[in-house]
Amino acid sequence: MNNFNKEESDCHILDEGFTAKDILDQKINEVSSDDGKGAFYVTDLRDILKKHLRWLKALSYVTPFYDVKCSDSRAIVNTLAAIGTGFHCTSKTEIQLVQSLGVPPERIIYANSSKQVSQIKYAVSNGVQMMTFDSEVELMKVAKAHPKAKLVLWIATDASKAVCCLSVKFGATVKTSKLLLEWAKQLNIDVIGVSFHAGSGCTVLETFVQAVSDASCVFDMGAEVGFSMYLLDIGGGFPGSEDTKLKFEEITSVINPALDKYFPSDCGMRIIAEPGTYYVSSSIWGPMCDDLDWITELLFENMGAYTVAARPTIYYVMSRSVWQLMKHIQNHDFLLEIEEQDISTVPMSCAQESRLDHHPAACASTSINV
Ligand SMILES: Cc1ncc(COP(=O)(O)O)c(C=O)c1O
Repeated sequence: MNNFNKEESDCHILDEGFTAKDILDQKINEVSSDDGKGAFYVTDLRDILKKHLRWLKALSYVTPFYDVKCSDSRAIVNTLAAIGTGFHCTSKTEIQLVQSLGVPPERIIYANSSKQVSQIKYAVSNGVQMMTFDSEVELMKVAKAHPKAKLVLWIATDASKAVCCLSVKFGATVKTSKLLLEWAKQLNIDVIGVSFHAGSGCTVLETFVQAVSDASCVFDMGAEVGFSMYLLDIGGGFPGSEDTKLKFEEITSVINPALDKYFPSDCGMRIIAEPGTYYVSSSIWGPMCDDLDWITELLFENMGAYTVAARPTIYYVMSRSVWQLMKHIQNHDFLLEIEEQDISTVPMSCAQESRLDHHPAACASTSINV
């Protein structure tokens, strides 16, 4: 596992005794007395660890590959790297970020429906082999730039009832999949599996079940064409907060039986997912996007997913106990034995991403050597 340390996460762990709310109030006071009125976020890294435990309990056979574009904050990516997730990257910059934290290429999938040839080449030269494709054009690009790639065929889902229906733009139909597999075979490109995305904010459980069933059909087609596929990627679309129509466990309660039916555990399938929103949505409180959104002292919960692109100041919150827990996880790999409540009961401290440090940190800092 990767090290979660002060240097890599660019964070300072501060004294015990703060709650996230204390830190929020304190920062709001600071900003209110400041002419700049800069928007800022507070990120609870403890929440990310809790989410990961919840994931392991509910989807124990599915390895999460966090979707970096959802929030590419270095401290968040470093936390996830330290607890052993993989990463779903859509660009060279994201691959660079993840690899700079010591994540090996086998834990990265380069998934972009329209990849730049230069970025495919960058992936090759940095050992990243897994990448998705959903069209002939992408297949041809990969055949030229990375003939040794391990391709994953991205199929469309019926995500019409999702808040963000990705299949309007991306994903091959089941019918087209057969042609793509045949072309890939002719080009001598290895197709190792199938991926789908039920749509961010998916509101219909059946979408997940249908997608798993469609993926199974495409696996059969792959076998007919002569591929030995072994990877299923069930995408994202998992809620990251409790205010959504479908709850995380409702979704997993239909996914698990569908996986058992179509991809039973003894069939040797490697199953991964690409959650973004799930991991970060509830860990971040903040404004909409940047200073321009300042209306009054408004505070929004569940602002973690797809919000920090404008690079506001981010204050990270983590207790010393969770910090120590993280070190144990790295050393002894005993994450499954830790209960979610264990993490909820430890007190908070505050950390700050210093490269974004526009406001003076008001809490007293204690340096921790790891
Ligand atoms: C291909 C792909 N995978 C995963 C995700 C993450 O989705 P979510 O935030 O719903 O988990 C996205 C989001 O746009 C995506 O496009």
